[in-house]
Amino acid sequence: MPRCVITRRVHFSAAHRLWNPSFSDAENAGVFGVCNNPNYHGHNYDLDISVEGEIDPATGYVMDVQRLKQIATECVVSHLDHKNLNVDVPWFAGLNPTAENIAVVCWRVLQPAVRPATLKRIRLWETDRNYVDYDGT
Ligand code: NI
Repeated sequence: MPRCVITRRVHFSAAHRLWNPSFSDAENAGVFGVCNNPNYHGHNYDLDISVEGEIDPATGYVMDVQRLKQIATECVVSHLDHKNLNVDVPWFAGLNPTAENIAVVCWRVLQPAVRPATLKRIRLWETDRNYVDYDGT
């Protein structure tokens, strides 16, 4: 059967602060800029979740996109939406909540959840102009 990649976009809003405790205050400010603000700040994130698989001849689907939405909501959005990533989310204990690291964390929870389909790519938009792609490598 032909193989396709389907993508579902989900959204969450979260606060974070980027910093490295081994850097001085001046180094943190220099490296992380406005994202180093000590009292946190927020982003409206979009997460594009792309899944690959064979088209099921019975349904014509790779995966019911409503099921993919449900998986994304349970595995990712419910954990991150309206949270302070540094304070509220154990996934980021000792891990700087950059867009890169958020994408990797999302991959790790989504990859087993979408089986038997294959997680192909995650694209995390932190702003309209910045996104990170991760493919599990
Ligand atoms: Ni930021």
